[in-house]
Amino acid sequence: MNQDELKRLVGQAAADYVQQNVASGAVIGVGTGSTANCFIDALAAIKDRYRGAVSSSEASTARLRAHGIAVLDLNEVDNLPVYVDGADEIDAQGHMIKGGGGALTREKIVASIAREFVCVVDASKLVPVLGAFPLPVEVIPMAQAAVTRALAAQGGAPALRRTADGKPYLTDNGNVILDWSGLQIEDPVALETRVNQIPGVVTVGLFAQRGADICLMGTPQGVQRATYRA
Ligand code: 5RP
Repeated sequence: MNQDELKRLVGQAAADYVQQNVASGAVIGVGTGSTANCFIDALAAIKDRYRGAVSSSEASTARLRAHGIAVLDLNEVDNLPVYVDGADEIDAQGHMIKGGGGALTREKIVASIAREFVCVVDASKLVPVLGAFPLPVEVIPMAQAAVTRALAAQGGAPALRRTADGKPYLTDNGNVILDWSGLQIEDPVALETRVNQIPGVVTVGLFAQRGADICLMGTPQGVQRATYRA
């Protein structure tokens, strides 16, 4: 199976998980990226069971609506039984690097409301230590240079994310992203806390304080489930 087939496999496994574990009438939290897209496509088949979804990006909102799935504002929802999203890296404790697709802030907000975070990845995302994937940091534009210096002082090399035509990439929130390469993140919870305290940082793409509860991982042998928190 190639990587796209593994993503489709876990997208379907996540929809099956939701159908088996989430009561009808609930609202589903939905992430962003190519694996989350596979989940959205699979969710379409069971959409009539649920009230709708809370989305973590404009891109996921468009895909949900294209499937006829109602998208609710998070402010209208006081509980989410589950949030399903991909990751750029995940370790054996369920800590993740996210934000390769630029949606880290909304992802972290929606995930923080959810009772359960179900991470959907292909096996290439499992790593012993986080950091080979450059860590995304969303930053208020006026603080770009100051935050770049503050991150570089801790090691590694933060670089402004750019679009294909060389312009600064802007998030759905109108902010820039610094992709921080050259890290070996031995203590993800401590680094998440430290980076979030730098003035101008909106969100760091470390999801460690609130990591995944469950991971559905697509492997050539099928979907493997890891549970990190009961
Ligand atoms: C988007 C994300 C994605 O979950 C992450 O980049 C993984 O994406 P994909 O499933 O396309 O590999 O955090 O901000």
